Amino acid sequence: MAEEFAEANRKFFDDLADKYDIKPWQQDLHRKITTEIQEKATTFIEPRLAAHPPGLRLLDYACGTGMLSRALAPWITTTIGIDISPKMVDRYNALASSPTPSTKDNKTITGIVGDLLNPTPSPSLSSPDFYNFDIAGVCAGFHHFHSPALAIERLAERVKPGGVVLIVDFCLEDEEGKWIPSRADHTVTAHGFSEGTMRSVFGGAGLVEVGYSVMPGTVTLRMDGAGEGGIERKVFLGRARKP
Ligand SMILES: C[S@@+](CC[C@H](N)C(=O)[O-])C[C@H]1O[C@@H](n2cnc3c(N)ncnc32)[C@H](O)[C@@H]1O
Repeated sequence: MAEEFAEANRKFFDDLADKYDIKPWQQDLHRKITTEIQEKATTFIEPRLAAHPPGLRLLDYACGTGMLSRALAPWITTTIGIDISPKMVDRYNALASSPTPSTKDNKTITGIVGDLLNPTPSPSLSSPDFYNFDIAGVCAGFHHFHSPALAIERLAERVKPGGVVLIVDFCLEDEEGKWIPSRADHTVTAHGFSEGTMRSVFGGAGLVEVGYSVMPGTVTLRMDGAGEGGIERKVFLGRARKP
């Protein structure tokens, strides 16, 4: 069941990859979430970033085209993106290789195909390069996992002691009344996450210093079926630290 669900995600995002973040509404959503991540980076997400310590390592899980990687690039030296969709990883690496102010100065951003939620993840993910991250985050991917609790456990295994697990996703709030069926429905297990759920999954993985911060305003989703006005959704940042 879990493997079928993962395969549905791989196929859906392989088919979508070329069109994933090119429409104006998608770019507006990415811009708003990027701004929120950057504004909260040194306060809510990880206060240690404020000192710009050298050599920090980020795991961007379910990286897609790399919004989280680019948002945190000013603070991070080595970024590894992992995604189940090879075509999303191709786009991630293509974007990472185009020089930007945030990827110069010996910074590296590398995407690879993988599924940490698979009971037998690819052996290449067992190498030390894929452990001891300072931050392991998932942006807009958490609702695509068959088990959010398992995902937090897997991310917690990948950060160093004292490292941070970060989730950026949709709030649960009143979304049930607004949800409009979409062709992506078979790839999601939730339409959002409450603060209570996030505290429970972070705590269940032994993480501490849990925080849940709601982004001001909303983002507009204009997927198929959303109609003229689209769907307004609230976004949260959830974070916790490995003791
Ligand atoms: C909505 S996109 C978000 C992409 C990107 N993080 C962003 O913020 O734009 C969800 C991503 O999750 C990936 N994904 C879904 N299930 C996954 C899994 N089990 N392991 C890794 N990636 C997965 C998909 O391939 C897709 O790239």
